[in-house]
Amino acid sequence: MIEKRIQIRPIIHLSLLLVVLLTACSLALAYDQYSAARDATNCRACHGDFRASPYVSLKDGLSWGDDLHDVHRNIMLTSECDTCHSSGRFPVFLGSSNGGFGLPAISCVGCHGRAADGTGTGAEGYGAGLRQHHYVTGTTGCITCHADSDPAAYTPVSEAILPPYYRTGDPNYPDMPSDPCNPNLTEEHYRASTLGLDNDGDNAYDMADPDCSGVAATPGESSALALQPLIVTAFDPTGGTMSLSYEAGCSSTDHNLEWGALGSVSTYGYNAQTANECGIGAGGTYVWSYPATPGDIFFLIVGNDGSAEGSLGLNSTPAERPENTGGICDIAQSLGDRCD
Ligand code: HEC
Ligand code: HEC
Ligand code: HEC
Ligand code: HEC
Repeated sequence: MIEKRIQIRPIIHLSLLLVVLLTACSLALAYDQYSAARDATNCRACHGDFRASPYVSLKDGLSWGDDLHDVHRNIMLTSECDTCHSSGRFPVFLGSSNGGFGLPAISCVGCHGRAADGTGTGAEGYGAGLRQHHYVTGTTGCITCHADSDPAAYTPVSEAILPPYYRTGDPNYPDMPSDPCNPNLTEEHYRASTLGLDNDGDNAYDMADPDCSGVAATPGESSALALQPLIVTAFDPTGGTMSLSYEAGCSSTDHNLEWGALGSVSTYGYNAQTANECGIGAGGTYVWSYPATPGDIFFLIVGNDGSAEGSLGLNSTPAERPENTGGICDIAQSLGDRCD
């Protein structure tokens, strides 16, 4: 959710851009890159040449009928190279890259890792689930350098938590993996058996992982991916309406508007809502008959699924912005199993 602060005359749009610089650290003979020198070292010792066709999966013994490189880059990533590559084509780091269109510059762990497992230093820790999958299936060597490889030492977040690159509806990446629970066997499956990935490393895949069954994902933050940031597309001060465009929060079936006087934005002092701020739809656009007073307002859009309200985004701390409890469209917020 991008917070909008509107002054009726003139309209001011504030957009915040957070730029995170990741520094690639190259340690010779460490598994921070696919191979040390285009040879059978690191990941390549077991998974082979990324460009050799056909790849035979080590998890189910079935052929991909193509190489790892082409299935990853041409299908999942729509022929976009910088998601994994840095300034040269070699080496390929596991946790840093130049970054694809709108994707964080974190290479393999954008899909083979989860941010919630991170230690706070670059992408370090993201791949804990991947390492534990190796560990519990008998490839224990990762523990030499990564203590989080052993399930007894660290518990990765649930299978249902989305890796940072997973998304639906991004025009740059129509075939990006979208759901780690792989419920229709299409969201995380590309080749060989219908298995997706064992994201949390407990060797239970997709819906067979108890983390996925019975746990309905709760709504995420609207406009979180900034594919379609919250913007005012038209403004009619005479009629008292403004047209809004925004992106639906994942798992949301409806959205509400929360607003307050601009002077109360720092304390999130929300005003009472009226009916035209409730149930504004599943996503996209809405023409809002905004309140006549006060003259300067801030507002937010929050998604819900009918029983749980999602995130209103983060404040500058950063911490979750408070919800508007007791408003006429209030639904209790639930962030525990949020889909983003
Ligand atoms: C010593 C051999 C070995 C090394 C080194 C190794 N792997 Fe694996 N990897 C395996 C085996 C075996 C499997 C299949 C395990 C199973 O599911 O039974 C596997 C599975 C995987 C999977 C599939 C996981 C899933 O959820 O199904 C990925 C992705 C992967 N490895 C990536 C990597 C990366 C990246 C590296 C380097 C950091 C690496 N591997 C290093 C042996 C290895
Ligand atoms: C999913 C990640 C990924 C994407 C996306 C990707 N590559 Fe790669 N690429 C790799 C890996 C891994 C290697 C093998 C590195 C190794 O063996 O150490 C590699 C190797 C290469 C090499 C050989 C480099 C050398 O000097 O040995 C070339 C050339 C290359 N890629 C070109 C491309 C181009 C062009 C694109 C975009 C069309 C692309 N790659 C997209 C992961 C990727
Ligand atoms: C866009 C998301 C994405 C990115 C980025 C990505 N992967 Fe994957 N990778 C997947 C998915 C999804 C699968 C499982 C596909 C399937 O089984 O149908 C997979 C499968 C694999 C496998 C096959 C494991 C097996 O034996 O079955 C290996 C090895 C692998 N990835 C390594 C890498 C490496 C190394 C990088 C970075 C250079 C990388 N991946 C980047 C999504 C990604
Ligand atoms: C010889 C030491 C060493 C071994 C063994 C090793 N790694 Fe790493 N790995 C590193 C270093 C150093 C980094 C970069 C710093 C970091 O991110 O922790 C790294 C980074 C990574 C990353 C990207 C960032 C992250 O923490 O998730 C992944 C994924 C990864 N390693 C997977 C593996 C897997 C899977 C194995 C076992 C198959 C393995 N590594 C074995 C040293 C090693």
